[in-house]
Amino acid sequence: MASAGGEETTTKKKLRILVVGGTGYIGKHVVAASARLGHPTTALVRDLAPSVPAKAQLLQSFRDAGVTLLQGDLYEHASLVRAVGDADVVISTVGARQIADQTKLIAAIKEAGGSVRRFVPSEFGLDVGRSGAVEPAKSIFDKKVTIRHAVEAEGIPYTPVVANYFAGYALPTIGQMLPLAPPMESVVILGDGRAKVVFMEEGDIGTYTVLAAVDPRAENKALYIRPAANALSHEELVALWEKKSGKTLRRVYVPEHDLLNKIHEAVMPMSIVLAKAHAAFIKGYAGNDVEVDPASGVEATELYPDVQYTTVDDYLNRLLSSSAIITV
Ligand SMILES: NC(=O)c1ccc[n+]([C@@H]2O[C@H](COP(=O)([O-])OP(=O)(O)OC[C@H]3O[C@@H](n4cnc5c(N)ncnc54)[C@H](OP(=O)(O)O)[C@@H]3O)[C@@H](O)[C@H]2O)c1
Repeated sequence: MASAGGEETTTKKKLRILVVGGTGYIGKHVVAASARLGHPTTALVRDLAPSVPAKAQLLQSFRDAGVTLLQGDLYEHASLVRAVGDADVVISTVGARQIADQTKLIAAIKEAGGSVRRFVPSEFGLDVGRSGAVEPAKSIFDKKVTIRHAVEAEGIPYTPVVANYFAGYALPTIGQMLPLAPPMESVVILGDGRAKVVFMEEGDIGTYTVLAAVDPRAENKALYIRPAANALSHEELVALWEKKSGKTLRRVYVPEHDLLNKIHEAVMPMSIVLAKAHAAFIKGYAGNDVEVDPASGVEATELYPDVQYTTVDDYLNRLLSSSAIITV
């Protein structure tokens, strides 16, 4: 996770940040980063007294960090209007099933009457502007594009975040998706293994997201999180792991047409996992090769050069030193 060191030099002003979806996989890192960076932070939560111990613990960690918890629901309009009315910045981290329904959040922001200076819609993935993804990932990407257009149409200043591949989704398996497990004697590589993929640690995504959400330089621009040190092809990732672990893995390559057949046969959520992997590992949509147009995008590492993000190298060292992955 990023250190707090250089973050203070970037944006000193503290804004009221509301996170919708803050109990989710990426949302909890956004909430934590917002509180850590000193912004008065509110998390809209559906259930303030969850029976699941892990959820209750998470909410307690939010309270301990000074986060205000507000009961609300994307499908309860009044609760949304009330929540966004007290916010300068709204960050949505709702999951794939709620992407299209963020129109309800947009409507609430409009109704609240202009207090919201920035909206970060739930994206946090691959560059959805690039066509060529296959179903079921395609529909999710298309919905994210539709939400971008809806925000623009309402004239709400916004910053979508292109975070590329969540490290926790790919690095514990050394990029192996078939099966979704650490490689033992052999490693399955999708395609030829040469497409670059950017892997980002989730805490760092939270940090960069909050920094950009309050930064005028990122207004109406997509934030691309894609440090060069974290862009590796699957072949490079496997080679790095072999060097660290001292173990050589036999490569098994899956041609694109075989992967497409597997996606077609798979059931949810595996079909989504594989279709996203196709977009990243074969199509290269999570790489850093395409130039960012300064009129419509900004690079996180250029805006915030002082953030000490977790490199893939650091992450693999952590995996080796923990027992999170079996190497023999
Ligand atoms: N780059 C990548 O590798 C990658 C991987 C996965 C996801 N993503 C993207 O990251 C974004 C967030 O996904 P995620 O997997 O972090 O989501 P998630 O874990 O499914 O979390 C969803 C959040 O939305 C909340 N929520 C659900 N229904 C709601 C409602 N009706 N009203 C208010 N809140 C509601 C959930 O609250 P409860 O706790 O109450 O359920 C939870 O906090 C998505 O855009 C997704 O596509 C990217």
